[in-house]
Formats: sequence, C-alpha cells, structure tokens
Amino acid sequence: MVNSSSKQILSDLEKTQKEFWNISRVTGEFLNLLVRQIRAKNVLEVGTSNGYSGIWLGLALKQTGGKLTTIEYWDKRLSVAKENFKKCALEDVIETVQGSALEVLEALSEDYTADLAFVDANKTEYVKYFELIDKHLKPGGIIVCDNVLSHEEKCRPFIDAINAHPDYHNVILPLPAGLSLGIKQIPPAS
Ligand SMILES: C[S@@+](CC[C@H](N)C(=O)[O-])C[C@H]1O[C@@H](n2cnc3c(N)ncnc32)[C@H](O)[C@@H]1O
Repeated sequence: MVNSSSKQILSDLEKTQKEFWNISRVTGEFLNLLVRQIRAKNVLEVGTSNGYSGIWLGLALKQTGGKLTTIEYWDKRLSVAKENFKKCALEDVIETVQGSALEVLEALSEDYTADLAFVDANKTEYVKYFELIDKHLKPGGIIVCDNVLSHEEKCRPFIDAINAHPDYHNVILPLPAGLSLGIKQIPPAS
C-alpha cells in the first residue's frame, strides 16, 4: 500500500524520530490502516513536525480520495514537512496550516467536518483540542491522540473529559506511547 520511494523516505525519517518527536512506525501504520478502513475523506492533524505522521495519513488519503489538514506553529518544522510531503507526491493531498493549534481550530469554518482527527501537539492542551474538534467531527468520526500513556498526567484532563462525554466511546491502545481512540457515537434513529 506504500510505494517504494515513500517507504524509503519514511525509513529515512525514522533515523531522526527523537529529534522531531515523531510517532512510532507501528502507530503510523495503524493510522494509515484506520484511514483506509473507514474510507476517511477529511482528516485533521494537530502537530505536523517534519511530516512523518502526515505522510502515513496522506498516503492512505491518496487511496481514499481524501484530504489532510495539518497544523503546526513552528515555521522551520513546517518547511521541512512541506518538503517531505512534496518528495512523497502528497502536496495535493495535504494542506498545511501554520499557527497556534487552538487559534487555528477556533477559526475553522463552521462547514468543515472531519472523519478523523489525529492529535499530537501540546499534551496539556489536548482537552481544549478535543472540545474544539468535537464541533467538527462527524457522528461516527474518530479522534485519535498520541502519548496518552507516556504523558499520562498531562493528558489526564482530556482522558477524563472524553470518558465522561456521553457521545464518545474511548479506548486506550497499548501502542508505544499509548494511543487513545475515541469514536463519536452515531445518534440512534428516532
Ligand atoms: C510530537 S510533535 C508531532 C509529531 C508528528 N505528529 C509526527 O509524528 O510526525 C508535536 C508538534 O506539535 C507542535 N506544537 C506543539 N504545540 C503546538 C501548538 N500549540 N500549536 C501548533 N503546533 C504545536 C510542535 O512544534 C511539534 O512539532
């Protein structure tokens, strides 16, 4: 499902995983599989870094005919990400937005809806990202967040909020940093 040149780029990026705080390879493979499985059309990512996770998401969206919108406030990192997206021929699939995640999420058009959101930025802000993303997540949509076990204390307000939310069913998967996956319930037919 991943062509050989993108595979090579992903492998090269794995050598600097610590420097760019990238997700693990298995997490990337999982996100890629998830996007294809739910046939996602619109995916929102919070925390681009050098684009490693964006490539996994973008390659899947290329197959589903979807689009990724990814947010990053660090200009140098975003420039590197854009180069990496280009190398993988994903520039038509991925829109990058530079800015503070909270401000960008607050400014999203009311019409924007996401099938899946992937959150991997400031862990103490996860709970606020969740509140803002919820407004744009389709019923049946999924919010996935990385580092909920490696940064358990910082992510705790988010985990408590999603567990208490009547519209969500959240699980924590034992992937390397702990990946939470919350499904927004489809309201029952009346
Ligand atoms: C863990 S890294 C993301 C790694 C990326 N998802 C990957 O696996 O390739 C987190 C990124 O979020 C960015 N970030 C942190 N807080 C942010 C905020 N409030 N707004 C926008 N970007 C933020 C950081 O600059 C950093 O590049």
